[in-house]
Amino acid sequence: MDFQESKTKENLARSFAAECQEGARYQFMAKMAQQQGYQYMSMLIRTLAHNEMAHAQQFFNKIVELGGNQTQNIEITAGYPFKSGELLDVLKQEAENEHMSAESIYPKFADIARDEGFEDVANLFDMVSKVERTHERTLKKLHENLSCNCLYKCNDEHAFKCDECGTIIMNKCAPKTCPLCKMGQGYYRIDFSIN
Ligand SMILES: [Fe+2]
Ligand SMILES: [Fe+2]
Repeated sequence: MDFQESKTKENLARSFAAECQEGARYQFMAKMAQQQGYQYMSMLIRTLAHNEMAHAQQFFNKIVELGGNQTQNIEITAGYPFKSGELLDVLKQEAENEHMSAESIYPKFADIARDEGFEDVANLFDMVSKVERTHERTLKKLHENLSCNCLYKCNDEHAFKCDECGTIIMNKCAPKTCPLCKMGQGYYRIDFSIN
C-alpha cells in the first residue's frame, strides 16, 4: 500500500503528537513533584518524559523515512487528555493513559500497520507499547506509595539510599535529612538492589 494513502501515516502522526504531549505533561508533573520536595520521584518522572521524546522521535523519523519529500502537513483528528489536579490525581490519570496506549491504542495501530504491509512500523508500535506498560507500572507504584504515605517508610527494615550522595541507611524509614550531604528526605528512595 502507498504510504501517503495509508491509515498508518495518520496513526504515526497521531502517535507523534501524543508522545510529545505526554513528554510535556510529564515535565509539568516532574516540576510539581520537585516543588513539593519529592526529588527522587521528580527524577523518575523526568526519565519517563525523556522516554516519551525518544518515542516521538522514532515516530517522526518513520514518517520522514516512508513519506520522504512528498509528506507535507498531515491532517489528523484525535483527542488528547487535558485533565489536571494534585500530584496524586495526575499520577493516577497518567497511569490510566499509559494503560490505554499500551493495551489498546498501540496494539491496534500495530495491527493496522501489519495489514497495510508496514511491518517495521508495526514492530515499532509493539516495542513502544511494551515500554508504556512499564511506565504504567512505575506511575501506579508511585501513586500507591504516595497515597499510603509510604514513599519513605517500610514495615520492615530496608535499605534507603540517598540519590544525591549515595549514602545507604538500613532502617524502617528514611532520615528527615541525609547525615552526609544534608539534603532532605525527598532525595531518599528504597533501594531494591540491596535486599
Ligand atoms: Fe511513549
Ligand atoms: Fe509512556
